[in-house]
Amino acid sequence: MTHSQAESRIATLRLTSTSRAAELIVAGKLVAFPTETVYGLGVDARSSEAVQRLFRAKGRPGDNPLIVHLDSLDRWRAAARELTESAIKFLEAFSPGPLTVVLPKHPSIASEVTAGLDSVGIRIPSHPEARELLAHAGIPVAAPSANRSGRPSCTTWQAIIEDMDGHIDAVLLGKACDIGVESTVVDCCGEQPIVLRPGGVTLQQLRTVVPQTLSLDEHLQRRQLGQASQLPDAGAEHPLPSPGLRHPHYKPRARILLVEEADIEKVVQPENRDDLRDYNPPGKRVAFVGLRSHHWRASEQECLQRFYHFQLFEGVDQYAAGFYEFLRECDRKLVDLIFVQRSPLDGVGEALSERQHRASS
Ligand code: TXA
Ligand code: MG
Repeated sequence: MTHSQAESRIATLRLTSTSRAAELIVAGKLVAFPTETVYGLGVDARSSEAVQRLFRAKGRPGDNPLIVHLDSLDRWRAAARELTESAIKFLEAFSPGPLTVVLPKHPSIASEVTAGLDSVGIRIPSHPEARELLAHAGIPVAAPSANRSGRPSCTTWQAIIEDMDGHIDAVLLGKACDIGVESTVVDCCGEQPIVLRPGGVTLQQLRTVVPQTLSLDEHLQRRQLGQASQLPDAGAEHPLPSPGLRHPHYKPRARILLVEEADIEKVVQPENRDDLRDYNPPGKRVAFVGLRSHHWRASEQECLQRFYHFQLFEGVDQYAAGFYEFLRECDRKLVDLIFVQRSPLDGVGEALSERQHRASS
C-alpha cells in the first residue's frame, strides 16, 4: 500500500512536548499521539480542510467516521448535542478510559469527521500525555488510529513512522500502548445501547451499568427478526450500523490462519508429511503467535527453529498489548503465513479475538 504520488512528502517532526503537539493541532496540523489503547492521529475536529487532509494521509475511505477526543466530560457540549442517560452512566463508570460513546452530533464538528452521519463518537482517553495534549488544545480532537488505513493499528511511535513518515506533520513520542486494542464503541443514541465494536471495556462490564446493552450480533439478529431497534443514522443507508465494519482492517501483508487451542499441536509439531506441507509450505516464511501453555509437547527451542518468527505471551492482556506489533514485525521480516492462536474470550480477549478474526478474513 503506497501513498498517492500526488501527495508531496513533508518533514514529520518528532515531538516530546504535549503543548507543542497541541499548538500544531490547533493550527490545523496532523499530529500522532499515544493513548492507552493505540496511537491516534489527531486533528482539529472543527476543520473540514484539516480532516480531509487526514483522510488522504491515512488513505481512509471517506465513509468511515472518526472518534472525537476530549480531555474531560465537562466539555461534551463541544462535540455532542445531547448526553443521553446511558452515555452518562457509561462515561461515569468507565471514563476516562478505553470507551467511545456515540451520541447526536453537534453542528460545530465538521461533517467529514462523522462521514456525514448525524451522530458522533466521543472518547476521553486516560493516557496522561493524551489528556495533557487535549487540555492544552482546548478543542475537540478527531483521531483515528494512526496507521495507514487497513493496516494493523500502531502501538509504538516507530510503527507510525513506518506507515506515515513524510505524510503527517508530527508524532508525539511516547511509550508503547498498554491495552493494545482500540476502545469499545457503544451507540448510546437510542433506548438500548449497542456495542458496535468490542474493545477495552467488555460487554459484561457495560451491562453492570446498563443491563439492556446489546452486542452487535444481538442487535442484528433482532433487526432480522423485524424487532428493529432505533439506530438513528444506520438502518436504511447502512447495511451495518458501524460504517467501519465494511472495510478491511488490521491486515499485515502475510496471510493469517487462525488456530484453535486444540489444533496447536498439529501446527507446532506436524506429525506427517501432509501436515508438514499444510503447516510449513516449502519456501515460505511461517510465523506463530499465541499464549504460553504447559500442554505442548514441542519445546520453545523447537518452535524457535521451526518458525521464522515466533512469540508466546503470558496472558490475554499481554497478548492484546503485543498482537499488532507482532503482525508488524512479521511484515518487517517478510513473513508469508502467520498462524495465530485464537484468543480466549475473557476480558480484553473479547476484543482481541474480534481483531484476529477480521485480520484473517
Ligand atoms: O481506541 C480508539 O478508539 C482509537 C484511539 C486513537 O482513540 N481510535 C480508533 O479510531 O480506533 P478508528 O478511527 O480507527 O476507529 C473508529 C471506529 C470505527 O469503527 C468507526 O466506524 C466507529 O469508530 N465510529 C466512529 N464514529 C461513529 C459513529 N458516529 N457511528 C458509528 N460508528 C462510529
Ligand atoms: Mg483504525
